[in-house]
Amino acid sequence: MNLQGKNILLGITGGIAAYKIPELVRLLKKAGANVRVVMTHAAQQFVTPLTMQSLSGEPVRTELMDPEQESTMGHIELARWADVILIAPATANFLSQMTHGIANDLLTTLCLAADSEIIVAPAMNHVMWRHPATQVNVETLKGFGVQFEGPVPGDLACGETGQGRMQEPEELFVALQHYFSQSILSGVNVVITAGPTYEAIDPVRFIGNRSSGKMGFALAEAFVRAGANVSLVAGPVSLDTPQGVKRYDVESAEQMSNQVSSLLSGCDLFAACAAVADYRVVDSAQQKIKKQDREMSLQLIPNEDILASVAGEGNPPFTLGFAAETENLLEYAQAKLERKKLDVIAANLVGAEEGGFGAEKNALTVVWNEGKVSLPMQNKKKLARELVDIVARLYLQKKNNTENYRLIQGLK
Ligand code: C5P
Repeated sequence: MNLQGKNILLGITGGIAAYKIPELVRLLKKAGANVRVVMTHAAQQFVTPLTMQSLSGEPVRTELMDPEQESTMGHIELARWADVILIAPATANFLSQMTHGIANDLLTTLCLAADSEIIVAPAMNHVMWRHPATQVNVETLKGFGVQFEGPVPGDLACGETGQGRMQEPEELFVALQHYFSQSILSGVNVVITAGPTYEAIDPVRFIGNRSSGKMGFALAEAFVRAGANVSLVAGPVSLDTPQGVKRYDVESAEQMSNQVSSLLSGCDLFAACAAVADYRVVDSAQQKIKKQDREMSLQLIPNEDILASVAGEGNPPFTLGFAAETENLLEYAQAKLERKKLDVIAANLVGAEEGGFGAEKNALTVVWNEGKVSLPMQNKKKLARELVDIVARLYLQKKNNTENYRLIQGLK
């Protein structure tokens, strides 16, 4: 994969393997990537900022509170600049800081502020790596969606042998190439619905639901990462728009439906992640309804099923639906897949004991006509990436784009 023009932020922490990083920068620059280097104080004991500056062709950043360094590019801007962040070598201390969200220097602050993928290449003594504290940190970070490259077994700088060596610069270079080759949905137009809808009863009251929108937003981010052009039609949620996503805010199911219709021309893939209200109030009141000392009833009429009508179009886009169920998960999901004529459906259990609505984690069973796969309970961002990986394969398969299909055979 071509790294030409890619923005790579390279974080170096204080391990002896730092002496190998100049070679990685050389490879990246040769491939046409833009490289900016951030070093911790300890890293500067192993390799000089001047070396890194000469090779990267950019000023090296070492301080968080330095007005001069900040004036060229603020640290938040730097975090946003990066298409990907690679921390190599990553020490046990750095992994621990990242796990706990500690932001006490420039690099840890950048990692906390970043919304791009973070890849870490740990390097440390093998006993430190195996230590339960490190392993718990690694698992937590994986749950946050951090990607690990190594460490690999071999001779260590301390004279011992074991798993703790940083991947070689050439291997890290390939890992970065691989990361960017995941743009398998490059140029594909994706429309996603997310969040709840609010159906007005009067100007101050509504019928809503518990959807937080987290899964839909994570999905939008994962589709962008896979190279797609993403339009996100969001119900009322308090979430930041993922980088690179075009967001349209709506409130009611009717508004969501209208917004989706206006985005359908040129849409290749439609993902309905929103928890759309099934009913709306007939003639919602123009003024606030006053409290009365008697029963009252609301008359409801069904909303249009946005997903079913998109899937029922003459030339529909590839459709991904969701099914949040409290029981009979597979049976209901299968029935929905057929009834709504979907290409694929992602089903999850919702309820007190489960992930789903509002939670940070979720598990999904992905079902399509010829197969199904279960994605275990995990952080929604990571789950979204795995789901997009499956959906992308199915989409490309359906399009019968053999060239791309061959390409994706090699992935994962
Ligand atoms: O039928 P049910 O509401 O369980 O189907 C859920 C799926 O259908 C979700 O993908 C949801 O986004 C979509 N849906 C929709 N419009 C509706 C109701 C559901 O797009 N009015």
